[in-house]
Amino acid sequence: MRRKIVAGNWKMNGSRGLVENLVGYVRSELPSLDNGVEAVIIPPALYIGDVTSLAGAQIAVGVQNVARWDSGAYTGEVSAAMARDCGCRYALVGHSERRQLFAETDAVVAEKVTQLLSQGVVAIVCVGETLAEREAGQAEEVVATQVRKGLGNVSGSEWQKIVVAYEPVWAIGTGKTATSSDAQAMHQSIRSVLSDMGAPAEAISLLYGGSVKADNAAALFAEPDIDGGLIGGASLVATDFMSICQAMPAGPER
Ligand code: PGA
Repeated sequence: MRRKIVAGNWKMNGSRGLVENLVGYVRSELPSLDNGVEAVIIPPALYIGDVTSLAGAQIAVGVQNVARWDSGAYTGEVSAAMARDCGCRYALVGHSERRQLFAETDAVVAEKVTQLLSQGVVAIVCVGETLAEREAGQAEEVVATQVRKGLGNVSGSEWQKIVVAYEPVWAIGTGKTATSSDAQAMHQSIRSVLSDMGAPAEAISLLYGGSVKADNAAALFAEPDIDGGLIGGASLVATDFMSICQAMPAGPER
């Protein structure tokens, strides 16, 4: 049984005006969906308070990054404990932009996952290969290594607080999406890696990300191992984000 999740990663975009318009719209439209989707909004950290106060119980809130340390002299950082304190149910870890621009290695990802688990915040751990790695036939191996190392410290009931997002780097913000069958194949491979690691793989939600739009979401979400999406650009347009939430097949959890 897996949760169906559509999470909007705003990255470094947005304003208080967008929070008001978009969260207000999603809050009013979400109750009309009967497909059991969980909508998550992941704004820049400064707006988390604004989003939580408007979101209501139906919309979950997440943070885009947390520190690998508990607390202390780390100017500019935000801790997992603060994320929980401010009402975040989710946090992204290891987004490819963090890996590429902020030197977030698999070891750092693992430390951040540990921080989040200690606070009971769900870690959405992002993995994905570059175009060069895909063209060299290494995509599955690269992603498997990211999963094994990033989640290497997780055990027992902690797996309930783990979501994995497969985001091929070449598909992020480029308008290129993996075909639904390529995405499904990678999700299946991630699930078997998780199973090898002793995780309850059938119970872990796997999201696809990378140029998910209103017009390609339904085909992706129809795949048996794609349990939702991590949405960048399209999550900044209220109607597009809602259409993607709507594209989730009806029915109970998977
Ligand atoms: P995109 O971003 O939907 O704009 O491609 C996805 C992401 O980076 O999470």
